[in-house]
Order: sequence, then C-alpha cells, then structure tokens
Amino acid sequence: MLSLTVSTLFQAALVPLLFQHGAVAELLGCDAVGCPTNEYHVAQCKVGNATLKALGITNITTTLDTRPLTWTVGFQELPKDNSHPEAALVLDKNFYLGTPPALRFDNNTAGCALFFEGVSANLAVSQDKKNSFTCADALNADCVSDLIRQAESAAKLAGDSDACSQLRDSLMSKPPSSCNSVKGGNWGSVSSRPLTGNQTLETADQSQCRATTGQGYDLRLVDSERHYLADRTNKALSQVLMGITPVMTILEKDGKAKAELTCLRLVDSEANQTNDEPSPKSLGSPNGVLSSPSVYLATLLVSTFLYMF
Ligand SMILES: *[C@@H]1O[C@H](CO)[C@@H](O)[C@H](O)[C@H]1NC(C)=O
Ligand SMILES: *[C@@H]1O[C@H](CO)[C@@H](O)[C@H](O)[C@H]1NC(C)=O
Ligand SMILES: *[C@@H]1O[C@H](CO)[C@@H](O)[C@H](O)[C@H]1NC(C)=O
Ligand SMILES: *[C@@H]1O[C@H](CO)[C@@H](O)[C@H](O)[C@H]1NC(C)=O
Ligand SMILES: *[C@@H]1O[C@H](CO)[C@@H](O)[C@H](O)[C@H]1NC(C)=O
Repeated sequence: MLSLTVSTLFQAALVPLLFQHGAVAELLGCDAVGCPTNEYHVAQCKVGNATLKALGITNITTTLDTRPLTWTVGFQELPKDNSHPEAALVLDKNFYLGTPPALRFDNNTAGCALFFEGVSANLAVSQDKKNSFTCADALNADCVSDLIRQAESAAKLAGDSDACSQLRDSLMSKPPSSCNSVKGGNWGSVSSRPLTGNQTLETADQSQCRATTGQGYDLRLVDSERHYLADRTNKALSQVLMGITPVMTILEKDGKAKAELTCLRLVDSEANQTNDEPSPKSLGSPNGVLSSPSVYLATLLVSTFLYMF
C-alpha cells in the first residue's frame, strides 16, 4: 500500500492554517514533462494502461516530506462501450497521486482523497485569472474554508476501511451554506478513495511518459471518472476538458485530521501549435478520434488552497 513513514515533520504540521490565504500553486501540463506526441502533435502520454492526451499537474505541500506530493489529472478517450450506445464519445478523467521515491505512509497515518467531479462542469474562473487561480476563485473563499473545517472535524479515518466513504457521505449530506452558489449547494457525485489501509494501489508504469513533475516520483491511479458525451460539440467537450475538479486530500495522524483542497484542470499544450492544428469545429475528427484538446484548454496555473497537514 501507499504506506507512509511519517517523520517528526508531521508535528510541525499542527501549526494551524499555515497557508490560510492559499498559495497559488502552478498547474503544469504536458509541455513541462515532455509528453511524447503523435504525428498531429497531440500528446500520447502512456501511464499504466492509459494513454493520456493532456495533463494537469500540481504540487501539494505536506509535512510528510520536505518534497511535495503531486496530483495529476489526465484524460483519455475510450472506445464506445455497450452500456451507453447513444454516447458519441467516452472520456476518462484519471487522477494520480505522485509521491517521492522513498516516502512510506506508516500505520499510524490514515489518508483519504475525495474527488468533487460532480461540480467540475459548473466551476469556472474569470478570464483574467485563467493563468493563476485558487480554489477560492472557483468556489469562493468561505466555501473552501468551511468545507475544509467540516472535513477536518468529521474525519475519523483510523482503523476503519469504510471511513473514507463515510466522510464523503457526511460532507455530501450537508454542504456548507457558503457553498450554495456552487450548483445550488449540491455537490453532485463525489468519489472517495482511501489512500491507506489494506487495499494496495499499484504503482503505474511511467517508462513511456512521466506524468508528474517530481523527480523519480511514484505515480498511482487513485480515481477515474468516466464521462459519456452525447455529442461532440464544443460545449459538451469543454464541460469535461475545461472543468475544474476540486480534490480534497485528508491525512490523519493521532486522531488529528488535516485537509487540503486542490483545484485541478487539464493544461493546454503550447508546444508545436501549428496552422494545421484542427480547427475547433473539427475537434472530433472523422475517424472518431478526438483531436487535440488544446483549443479548449487555456494555459493555466492553479489553484491550491493550502493547509499544511
Ligand atoms: C515539436 O516539433 C519538433 C520538430 O518536428 C519535434 O522534434 C518535437 O518533438 C515537437 N515537440 C512536441 C512537444 O511536439
Ligand atoms: C486500467 O487499469 C485500472 C487499474 O488496473 C482499471 O481499473 C481500469 O479499468 C483499466 N482501464 C482500462 C481502460 O483498461
Ligand atoms: C513542484 O515542485 C518542484 C520542486 O519541489 C518543482 O520542480 C515542480 O516544477 C513543481 N511542480 C509544479 C506542478 O508546480
Ligand atoms: C506498524 O508498523 C510497525 C513498524 O513498521 C510494525 O512493527 C507494526 O506491526 C505495525 N502495526 C500494525 C498494526 O500493522
Ligand atoms: C486489514 O485487514 C486485517 C486482516 O484482514 C483486518 O483485521 C483489519 O481490520 C483491516 N484493516 C482495515 C483498516 O480494514
């Protein structure tokens, strides 16, 4: 498992709300990690069994290690499946946790991640902030701090394999009123994934593409969100590809939980943009393969609202 050896650094984490005002962390994409590309200059980043066409990578600072952890979002197109014959396009948004090479979670530490994919299509930031935004810009500052407080007081992760989904259920059942502006105060679907415990998250093969900015980092697929698109219009595509997904990381040690909210979005590739790039209306190419998402993906920075663990 993602077992973490927690150093004494963890104690320093108990300084409350160290990053209350939310350091704006950079969100980097394929250009930063040199994804291999196909003949149309579309990224083909093979990680484990997925071939990702765009990435968004951000650091999160914890007291587990002097080096940050990373979250990576990537998307891949899948063949149509029989369960949704009406869908024009099937996309997976995958979320990977990157950890420094020697990091081990010890058995006194419990971890959980929550993915608020249900609101991602509803979240946007103003044009002037597209290159640099925090979760507070996407959700509003009170909502972010109330949600974090709610998670930290509700979390009881230690020793219970269902604790992560219970935390999810408790957050979903009563969103803070400060979050009412987000999709009418309804989170929609939220996925919960334990980061520690009995089940093992396998390290993904990165021999063909390194999808994290951390040197030598291990990468693990933590969550995958499947989207069935009814059509290939710009609107349908951009709701998925330009969506902003809040990802909450909760770590607990000695009964004290610390949560952090990171807002992840795919980052446009700037490299080798040429005139033969498909135009927006031809995004879905005739052979059924999605062309470059870059038309939709503004270059961006993100968005972490950092609370030290
Ligand atoms: C950009 O184009 C050059 C020349 O065709 C190629 O060597 C390079 O790999 C391309 N880079 C990307 C990111 O596509
Ligand atoms: C890729 O592997 C993961 C974990 O092994 C599995 O859950 C998922 O279904 C696989 N995805 C595809 C597209 O094969
Ligand atoms: C994360 O931090 C490392 C330094 O620790 C830096 O090299 C890397 O570019 C950062 N990644 C992102 C996505 O900001
Ligand atoms: C916790 O870890 C220690 C040292 O790694 C080990 O000796 C101990 O058996 C573990 N406890 C449990 C309950 O797994
Ligand atoms: C892990 O598995 C052991 C043995 O199967 C079990 O006793 C323990 O309760 C499990 N721990 C969790 C957190 O599920």
